[in-house]
Amino acid sequence: MDITLVQGDITAQTVDAIVNAANSSLMGGGGVDGAIHRRGGPEILAECRALRASHYGKGLPAGQAVATTAGRLDATWVIHTVGPVYSRTDDRSGVLASCYRESLRVADSLGARSVAFPAISTGIYGWPLDDGARIALRTVREFSTAVDEVRFVLFDAVAYTAFQAAL
Ligand code: AR6
Repeated sequence: MDITLVQGDITAQTVDAIVNAANSSLMGGGGVDGAIHRRGGPEILAECRALRASHYGKGLPAGQAVATTAGRLDATWVIHTVGPVYSRTDDRSGVLASCYRESLRVADSLGARSVAFPAISTGIYGWPLDDGARIALRTVREFSTAVDEVRFVLFDAVAYTAFQAAL
């Protein structure tokens, strides 16, 4: 598997699947989630609503992942996953690792070969970038998958540098 790092906006990526750092409601939010729904258009939200109604009445639990199509984005699917909120006292790194694993599992089930990830939980959910980068890279590298390109799309130079150091 090729692991690449790119600085930029995840919604501008041409890949089979873009991973969304969503929240349990699947109803949109700020950060990556806001950008994906804005640029992808209302179809994505409509599919999220249908998923809530059919499978996730109480919301998508942290660490799990589910796919919709990608609306107007230049990708085929959006894989929505819910990162953990960072806690200094409670080690939630297993949940963060699960986001990457479960997203790749969903990608495999769709036949996606290229997947773009944001740095899950490192924005509004407060996870320290260096640690988030190490967990992301280690988990993806260790996961057995047919995905042959994983692209980490880092929004700014600080995040890019953290991932480069961890790589
Ligand atoms: N492309 C790539 N990376 C981005 C983009 C973008 N367009 N926008 C932000 N980032 P966040 P979280 C970076 O907050 O921490 C939402 O409201 C950002 O700099 O998007 O998992 C959801 O609905 C950071 O490094 O996700 C949830 O409520 C990383 O992406 C909550 O935020 C993740 O930041 C999830 O918080």
